[in-house]
Amino acid sequence: MSDIEFHNREKETKEIRSILDSRPTLITFIYGPINSGKTTMVSHLIEELPADYVVFYINLRTKFLASYDDFIESLFEMEMESEGALKKGKETLAELVSSITKVAGIPITKEFLDYVFKDNKPKNAFSYIIKLFMEVKATGKQPVLILDELQKIGDVKVNGSLIYELFNFFIDLTKELHLAHVFVVTSDSLFIERIYNEAMLQGRCRYLRVDDFDEATTVAFLEEHDFTDDEKAAAWNCCGGKPAYLLELIRADDLGREVDRLLRMRAGELKTFLKTLKELGDKVTMKEERYDVSYEKIVCVLKMFSDEEKIDMWSIDEISKYYLVRNNILFLDPDRGIVKPQSWLDLLAIREVIADA
Ligand SMILES: Nc1ncnc2c1ncn2[C@@H]1O[C@H](COP(=O)(O)OP(=O)(O)OP(=O)(O)O)[C@@H](O)[C@H]1O
Ligand SMILES: [Mg+2]
Repeated sequence: MSDIEFHNREKETKEIRSILDSRPTLITFIYGPINSGKTTMVSHLIEELPADYVVFYINLRTKFLASYDDFIESLFEMEMESEGALKKGKETLAELVSSITKVAGIPITKEFLDYVFKDNKPKNAFSYIIKLFMEVKATGKQPVLILDELQKIGDVKVNGSLIYELFNFFIDLTKELHLAHVFVVTSDSLFIERIYNEAMLQGRCRYLRVDDFDEATTVAFLEEHDFTDDEKAAAWNCCGGKPAYLLELIRADDLGREVDRLLRMRAGELKTFLKTLKELGDKVTMKEERYDVSYEKIVCVLKMFSDEEKIDMWSIDEISKYYLVRNNILFLDPDRGIVKPQSWLDLLAIREVIADA
């Protein structure tokens, strides 16, 4: 359990609130580097929303998703009786809707479950959700669907690819029916790149970046935790605005030692990563073909960060880009056409390690 209070993310929260205030027309993809605070921001926003929004929030992170059935099970929240049997009580959608609490998975009763699971057809599940959302709307409330870590469904197949069925469903909910707001949250920037280049989503979605805190936000955050000016500077110079690292610094007894430890640890990981690649080599699969990863090219790409914080994503070869992003060293932002280290700490580690590579 975290004892650290949520630090307001004014700009991003405002953007989302203004989306929620208007009629649903586009799918919103919330993306950003690892551990930048996407899930925390979304969870906090949900708590603060007025009661006329009904949020269906599903986080796929901890779910095991190997098949279509796994996905459907993770989407729906079944009403259980105390003995673990499915509840039979609520027969109609109206009754079900009246029992919905503020945030939940998608509620379903046994009657509908049979229909939804029938014949492995995503269409059944989606038409049930549309009916449910219409019922919510009929009570004067606005449904909001949020899927966190959607990339986890990977290449699950149902006849075709499940992800395409889902995108069509999201387009239905937003652009066609204006029925629900749809937010997809992900920390996988290769997934965002795929989406960015997906023809069926052109003009049907928007991108909202939740990055590490900027300097002013970091300073304000650390101020809440009684950091002196020197301590704030030391924290910013080592970790930038990565909330997860800042938390470690806040909790540390000795700030200087913790800063050194974090940097030493990250540099060590990167050194091992490069040494392993140099000695054993590696391969990646892209577009169903296997390619060798070149140690020399990887070093060349990392050297570009010796005096830059971010680089043009078209200035590096696709295999190295894919490999470094897949291994969580670089973050790819297709919306701005850049790649940069996953954090300021990663940038420092890259600079340190690359000097003797
Ligand atoms: N605004 C904030 N105020 C205080 N702490 C925060 C804030 N945002 C994030 N954190 C803390 O930083 C850590 C990482 O946040 P979170 O899990 O939300 O990031 P994420 O971007 O969803 O990560 P991932 O990339 O793994 O999905 C958490 O421990 C969280 O408590
Ligand atoms: Mg998250």
